[in-house]
Amino acid sequence: MKRGDELEAVIEDIAVEGRSLARIDGFVVFVRGGVPGDTVRMRIRTVKRNFAEADLVTLEFPSPRRTEPRCRYFGTCGGCTWQNIAYASQLEFKRRHVAETLERLGGFAPLPVPAPLAMADPFYYRNKMEFSFGERWRTPEEMAHPRPEGAATGGVIEGALGLHLSGRYDRVLDLYECWLQSEVSPRIVNLVREFCLGHELPVFSTVTQSGYLRNLVIRESKRTGEIMVNLVTRDDRPEVMQQLTERLLGAFPSLTTIVNNITERRSQVAVGERERVYHGPGTITEKIGKRTYRISANSFFQTNTDQAERLYDTALGFAHIRAGDVVYDLYSGTGTIALHIADGAGKVVGIESVEQAVGDARKNAEFNGVHNCEFLHGDLKETLLSSRLQGEPLPAPDVIIVDPPRAGMHEKVAREIVALAPRTIVYISCNPSTQARDLRIICQSGKYSIESIQPVDMFPHTQHIENVVGLANSFQ
Ligand SMILES: C[S@@+](CC[C@H](N)C(=O)[O-])C[C@H]1O[C@@H](n2cnc3c(N)ncnc32)[C@H](O)[C@@H]1O
Repeated sequence: MKRGDELEAVIEDIAVEGRSLARIDGFVVFVRGGVPGDTVRMRIRTVKRNFAEADLVTLEFPSPRRTEPRCRYFGTCGGCTWQNIAYASQLEFKRRHVAETLERLGGFAPLPVPAPLAMADPFYYRNKMEFSFGERWRTPEEMAHPRPEGAATGGVIEGALGLHLSGRYDRVLDLYECWLQSEVSPRIVNLVREFCLGHELPVFSTVTQSGYLRNLVIRESKRTGEIMVNLVTRDDRPEVMQQLTERLLGAFPSLTTIVNNITERRSQVAVGERERVYHGPGTITEKIGKRTYRISANSFFQTNTDQAERLYDTALGFAHIRAGDVVYDLYSGTGTIALHIADGAGKVVGIESVEQAVGDARKNAEFNGVHNCEFLHGDLKETLLSSRLQGEPLPAPDVIIVDPPRAGMHEKVAREIVALAPRTIVYISCNPSTQARDLRIICQSGKYSIESIQPVDMFPHTQHIENVVGLANSFQ
């Protein structure tokens, strides 16, 4: 096999990042854009020692798992990689991934993994979208045709506002349509682009570290309908922001708040060191279960409100909390899990390493009139058992819920959780691989066994899957 070869193959499986897997005489070939069950003609792009990569040339026989992608940018945009796969098949691939990972990396005997909790409508599910300004990438169609009607024709013709190209963080796809947030979200994007590029405002460049426009972040509450528009810029230009605010409110009078985050940081993070509020309170409110959350431009909040509620309900179901129980919510972020489960418990202790998130969690508890939650700031690697937090003795936990970042838990934390000997452990994870690794450590202690598993689909049309595992203490 060599670069440029054209071969026919049947796609056997799904792989990461929008790729699929075929085999030629047992040799693995990753094909971009294939769906399991397809017969394709592919052109070999690179050949490595253990695998090759290929581009799909023609689809000879489409898989029954295929569906027509709804978005015109599918295949180019880095936002959705699975829109060409029927939703039922996406869920099945995710279920299988969880089951196989628990076996392969966790070393568990085959476990019954149910279908992920699915969305009734797998579009318009995000409550936050982070769009980027950047150097514009033209689709082949755009090369042949002029920009869509109503598009900016300002001097900075190469400026764009949209999402990054699949695998290219230096190029932005000018988006006029997006099905991830809501119907109104791309219309706000289009107005902001029109205004900014029409006024020839310079786009920030990470290469030269100059320019003004960095990101447009739209937050839209799914339960209250409130909307925040946040323009992230390199410097403070009040006159520009005032004009933009007027334009936005003229077109979208019900916008709740408009803010400007300003950052001179070199890296592309849409968070400002300074914030100016140009309209409204600077926050929006969102609801999960019985609780209401006040969200500012830079606070962390689960991006899929409906599924976050189902995720938390699943965790609550697995936790078997009894009246008077002490529950630890580890990696507590802004306290949403703690507050969701607080009513059934005696006391909840949240531990989180980001100080601002701890502050937000305390404010969220106060805002909701919840008095049995305590939020502590600390790195779990250093603080959990050894100091029981700055010498402050904490009551021993009956239940521990953990929701670590993608990297999973530090081994020391997994072992300390076992040493604390709670009656139940609930492990929520956005990365089945690190979850399986950590569960192995917990179960190898001989003190815990897996009692329940439930994946939750938080991010339709992507490979991501959230998984909740309940563990019971064998000696209680
Ligand atoms: C997946 S988020 C969970 C957030 C929250 N449970 C929720 O549902 O919104 C993981 C959290 O763990 C925190 N974190 C990461 N490493 C940590 C550590 N070593 N100690 C304590 N918290 C940590 C992060 O700041 C983040 O807020």
